[in-house]
Amino acid sequence: MSLIDTIREKAKSDVKRIALPEGDEPRTVKAAEIIRAEGLAEPILITPESIAADPRRLESYAALLYELRKAKGLTEEAAAKLAAAPMYYGMLMVKAGDADGLVSGAVHSTGDMLRPALQVIKTAPGMKLVSSSFLIECPNKALGENGLLVYADCVVNPCPNAEELANIAVATAETARKLCGIAEPRVAMLSFSTKGSASHELVDKVREATEIARGLAPDLLIDGEMQLDAALVPEVAALKAKGSPVAGRANVLIFPDLQSGNIGYKITQRIGGADCFAVLQGLASPCNDLSRGCSVEDIVNTVAATSAQA
Ligand code: ACO
Repeated sequence: MSLIDTIREKAKSDVKRIALPEGDEPRTVKAAEIIRAEGLAEPILITPESIAADPRRLESYAALLYELRKAKGLTEEAAAKLAAAPMYYGMLMVKAGDADGLVSGAVHSTGDMLRPALQVIKTAPGMKLVSSSFLIECPNKALGENGLLVYADCVVNPCPNAEELANIAVATAETARKLCGIAEPRVAMLSFSTKGSASHELVDKVREATEIARGLAPDLLIDGEMQLDAALVPEVAALKAKGSPVAGRANVLIFPDLQSGNIGYKITQRIGGADCFAVLQGLASPCNDLSRGCSVEDIVNTVAATSAQA
């Protein structure tokens, strides 16, 4: 079964309510019909009209937003205005427990969706950081877990420090296990150096992150720093990282920063011909971003993944 089929089955097994704040966008409207017909989720299309039709709910969401953000200087008037914007309204719907998750991004940029998610939904208990996992299905089945790899962070954190990088590694292993069904995540902390082959403060950061992650998740198979080829190719691993429990057979790849991660997934997709699919992790309730060039099928699949995460 392909990854997306696994995710769709998971979504169908426990149907969740997913808010769609771009509810009058034509691809989203079409996707909602398919999602409902296939029983993947209960889509909630949010439009300016649907918001105006329920003033009592809008008022309670505005009050909720004010409570959440007053310490940050948000006034009641500003909260009322923001709550009426479909993106904030959708986030507040999730926060209030009236929806289980949210998908947007067919119209809005990643930042426009992430900022309200960080402000309203916030991190899950015990999580310090929101980040992302890219689920990668490679044509070469010798790589990763029968061709499946999970990359992070390619979407959210521009310059993670060592502690943040460690948090990203642990969260990504959890996504690999729970969402992708990878029973044994093997996490490679990527760098331009393998096991001390180069010295630089950037390498030190990855090494320190590896140590912190080991402390956070002692049972997790995690190793670094290592280069991409040492992480994936057994022959290279045997030369450069002998005895590593991860090198040569990694299925989770942690990039040192957003530039390398974002470029890395796009090279995998455009040159490597892999199917790539992103989810956010670490939020108290799942919210996921679409690319503005997304197809109806992309929206359906992202809603299914959000439902499966919920
Ligand atoms: N995890 C948890 N909370 C966070 C995180 C995080 N990773 N980042 C910011 N926050 C919190 C802050 O603490 C702050 O909370 P507060 O207002 O309650 O104090 C709030 O979110 C806003 O933080 P700012 O730093 O003011 O927000 P900023 O304007 O920097 O935006 C954002 C944060 C949107 C995540 C920014 O870092 C960003 O733009 N990241 C890159 C997104 C992007 O363009 N990705 C690449 C394209 S996507 C693709 O190619 C698939």
